Amino acid sequence: MKISILGGGPAGLYFSILIKKARPDYEVALYERNRADDTFGFGVVFSDQTLDIFRRYDPVSHAAILANFAYWDDIEIHFKNETIRVGGNGFCGCSRQTLLRLLQERARELGVALHFEREIDTLAAFAGSDLIIAADGINSRVRSQHADHFQPVTDLRPNKFVWLGSTRPFDAFTFFFRETGHGIFIAHCYQYEQGHSTWVIETDPKTWARAGLDKRDEAQSARFLESVFAKELDGHSLITNRSLWRNFPMIRNTRWVKDNIVLLGDAKATAHFSIGAGTKLAMEDAIALFEALKAHGDDVKAALSSFERDRREDVEKTQHAANVSLVWFEHLARFWNYDPIKFAFGLMTRSKSITYDNLAMRAPEFVRAVTENFAREQEAAGLPVRGADVPPMFQPFRLRQMELDNRVVLSPMCMYSADQGMPDDWHLVHLGARALGGAGLIFTEMTNVSSEARITHGCAGIYTDEQEAAWNRVVDFVHGHSAAKICMQLGHAGRKGATKLIWDGMDEPLEAGGWPLIAASAVPYYPHSQVPRPMTRADMDQVRDDFVRAARRAQRAGFDMLELHCGHGYLLASFISPLTNLRTDAYGGSLENRLRYPLEIFTALRDAWPIEKPISVRISATDWKEGGLTGEESVEVARMFSRAGCDLIDVSTGQTVHDAEPVFGRMFQTPFSDKIRNEAGIATMAVGAITSADQINTILAAGRADLVAIGRGHLVDPSLTLRAAAWYGIDMTVPPQYALGYRAQLSLARRERQELADLRQRARPRGGQAADK
Ligand SMILES: Cc1cc2nc3c(=O)[nH]c(=O)nc-3n(C[C@H](O)[C@H](O)[C@H](O)COP(=O)(O)OP(=O)(O)OC[C@H]3O[C@@H](n4cnc5c(N)ncnc54)[C@H](O)[C@@H]3O)c2cc1C
Ligand SMILES: Cc1cc2nc3c(=O)[nH]c(=O)nc-3n(C[C@H](O)[C@H](O)[C@H](O)COP(=O)(O)O)c2cc1C
Repeated sequence: MKISILGGGPAGLYFSILIKKARPDYEVALYERNRADDTFGFGVVFSDQTLDIFRRYDPVSHAAILANFAYWDDIEIHFKNETIRVGGNGFCGCSRQTLLRLLQERARELGVALHFEREIDTLAAFAGSDLIIAADGINSRVRSQHADHFQPVTDLRPNKFVWLGSTRPFDAFTFFFRETGHGIFIAHCYQYEQGHSTWVIETDPKTWARAGLDKRDEAQSARFLESVFAKELDGHSLITNRSLWRNFPMIRNTRWVKDNIVLLGDAKATAHFSIGAGTKLAMEDAIALFEALKAHGDDVKAALSSFERDRREDVEKTQHAANVSLVWFEHLARFWNYDPIKFAFGLMTRSKSITYDNLAMRAPEFVRAVTENFAREQEAAGLPVRGADVPPMFQPFRLRQMELDNRVVLSPMCMYSADQGMPDDWHLVHLGARALGGAGLIFTEMTNVSSEARITHGCAGIYTDEQEAAWNRVVDFVHGHSAAKICMQLGHAGRKGATKLIWDGMDEPLEAGGWPLIAASAVPYYPHSQVPRPMTRADMDQVRDDFVRAARRAQRAGFDMLELHCGHGYLLASFISPLTNLRTDAYGGSLENRLRYPLEIFTALRDAWPIEKPISVRISATDWKEGGLTGEESVEVARMFSRAGCDLIDVSTGQTVHDAEPVFGRMFQTPFSDKIRNEAGIATMAVGAITSADQINTILAAGRADLVAIGRGHLVDPSLTLRAAAWYGIDMTVPPQYALGYRAQLSLARRERQELADLRQRARPRGGQAADK
């Protein structure tokens, strides 16, 4: 087989090594426009995990790489005159030039034909090749020449960065954060060989412009940055090597393969430098392509399609982690007033793969400091403290005069089990069990303010005396047998009303027995849904009064808190989203107008609800749809509710229009909570695909939310809070009937924890286990 490779970067070179080693009979040629020893940039980093993979595939180049790498275990964060060191990370740094030289030597030794100083303009040069690898980097010419086919999508990020070097030594991967009169500059630094370090310096576009960097040339920029980081450079200067300011392009391609041509490395997909994964991604691509060819022999077509199919998920995961990471750096100002320990924790956990629990294994002192800092902040905020060493999820919280035992919440979840709006034994047992299970706050399902406000025939209400009494029974049980507080979520289904029970077809209109619907505008949910009537002022008065009456009933039933449901496409959400509110009166158009009616209801509730009891608002912080509400606007929505007296924003997303395109993933809505909490300065509750105590602690300790709600997780495990409490060894308030069980669970958990710690310690790769920094 004849294989032609365009590009002598890590992707092209490593692939040539693997394939030629396995199939010496193949004719493998690589073409590179630069000279063999030309290189731009300074160092690259790999985690222990990545190096282990390289060892498996080619021990010879792995040994050469190891012999030339600087190794370190710690990450050091310099923030506002404090230095925080976090151990257990396990990284290697190497000069890019050395890496390429080692790979070139290995490729040559195996018989790959390396052609340097050969600029390739078109792939016509490779006619006759069975397989063409386009490993021609971030500005891939092959990708642009066949853009119609590959369909690349480039997301040019706003921050400016420049890649520089220095002779300043480091014994840790080091982040410097420096505030200047122009704004904040960040330096990502590491030593890659004796006497040489990489300095990637990053700043936001406004700071960059204010500092006049748009008008400075390469040398002038370097001199300016030397003055910014004078202390950190410690007498060393910055070295340039085509060190031009750039914006990072996040590149994705809809297709990776065209006939016998395949994109590899940066040409195919980029990963932001802040997770140090670009070279890793490129070399792992090479491995995946090699594996596909090995599996399919000479069947290039089958091999390429299996490469594209099998590799895509891993690449997208890395890109997602890189994306989350770069966004953290873009929004640095949000965290600038944080305590240095909390700031460092946020930095360490920004891309989701590093968490409270896994840091506790790798860097126990750091996590102890994070935990103690959380308790200190708790105390400073006038909140009770359960203990300085207690994980954040078990620290109490307070809204107005409602005190919560811990920060775990049962998310509101419709049970579709009421008859004529009446909650019954199902609701008592369901909510009661979760209260006994230890959650600090229990939410009822969306409880409707009138019969016409219901979503389905099975939805609960609070508009009759019997319903009020039935809810009172639930509340009394929760108060009488647990430490939990209970919140009633009030709502009106709007255009999503008169639909089937969820198990008969979610949001599907009833075929018979429906009722007339109202909404902001006459926009049906599905094209085949009932068309709602746009609300008149008289409708608005009536619905407002229904809400107020329901709130009074909730007060009489003994609830501790109310939530106003303004999300998920129900009545009030239909006013907030520009996709469903087409009104031209004072309730449509601008955000202020669209919020007018939801705020009117909120204010009426606030007036009717006791001053010492809190009210929260659930919003859909984005419509996940072009032209819909954005995360930016949701900050303003939160501010408006906060000004009206809202105590907490319950941050959900979507479900407002049927054709939304949500991006799901672990904790996928938490970034919206983070944004609202830290930009609007209001307490938030995060929810959505949060499944473990570890995630809850990570979210809370990093300041991304004040409370964490678990929905589906609670359906299968009513006692998830108790279980976590036992795991962390917390002295929980447990009903006396269950005390013996809890005590047994505590000692079991203590043993399991110790066993796990021993196991992890033994399984730990040399120096650490991090996949990203
Ligand atoms: C600031 C910054 C910091 C980074 N830090 C790290 C890090 O710490 N760790 C890490 O792993 N990665 C890092 N990266 C990413 C890393 O440099 C790339 O992801 C990696 O080099 C991609 O490898 P590649 O083989 O796909 O492309 P490249 O290394 O870009 O190689 C492509 C090659 O193709 C050649 N070429 C292109 N067009 C032609 C043509 N028409 N004819 C002939 N030859 C051609 C180019 O000259 C080049 O040598 C960083 C990137 C940046 C920008
Ligand atoms: C069966 C079911 C019913 C739900 N009912 C409600 C509801 O009544 N009110 C509400 O605001 N959200 C409701 N939700 C959304 C949940 O509160 C929660 O936001 C969502 O399930 C995501 O969290 P999770 O990943 O922990 O499940 C419901 C979700 C499910 C699965």
